[in-house]
Amino acid sequence: MASLPESGSPIPPAASGIVLRDLTEADLDWVAEREREIFGRSAWSPSLIRDDFLHGFSRWRGVEFDGALAGYAVYGFEGDAFHLMNLAVAPEARRRGIARAVMDDFLAEARRLGAPDAWLEVATTNAAALALYRAYGFEDVRVRPRYYQPEGLDALVMRLRLTS
Ligand SMILES: CC(C)(COP(=O)(O)OP(=O)(O)OC[C@H]1O[C@@H](n2cnc3c(N)ncnc32)[C@H](O)[C@@H]1OP(=O)(O)O)[C@@H](O)C(=O)NCCC(=O)NCCS
Repeated sequence: MASLPESGSPIPPAASGIVLRDLTEADLDWVAEREREIFGRSAWSPSLIRDDFLHGFSRWRGVEFDGALAGYAVYGFEGDAFHLMNLAVAPEARRRGIARAVMDDFLAEARRLGAPDAWLEVATTNAAALALYRAYGFEDVRVRPRYYQPEGLDALVMRLRLTS
């Protein structure tokens, strides 16, 4: 489904063959493996993933492409801020609109829950993710120095104001 952000360029609809679903406990090994592959030393550990999935309050979403898991996202309220905590697409499945499908899902859920805005952090060096978020109209709020450890990369805090 097409999504029209409050500002920024209109986003074309996600490609066909993309299906979003809630992750299950059986998917967590796959997520942990992908985390390690994609984020290296800053990856969430298998125990953190399992703990948050089982006992946290976030929504864990998976994206299938042509019937196989190809990406995942974690989002939900942190205090009163609706927050994208994680988003990753398997390297071999990139540039097919999977992250766009996740962003549509994330923002639809934010609106459904009546969140006034949506928040996320992104490494200031992450050109692909910055381009994605800016295309959705996310605006720079502030830099959190050395937010990503152990690399010590700065994070840019971004916000999209939502209207119902
Ligand atoms: C960032 C990431 C999630 C994008 O996933 P994706 O499924 O390839 O993205 P999409 O195909 O949905 O792209 C949507 C838009 O994002 C932007 N974009 C995505 N990848 C990009 C890249 N490598 N360079 C520039 N812009 C990019 C483009 O605006 C793109 O639209 P277009 O294809 O019409 O030009 C993916 O590269 C990834 O998992 N990276 C590693 C993990 C990561 O950085 N996660 C974000 C943490 S904050």
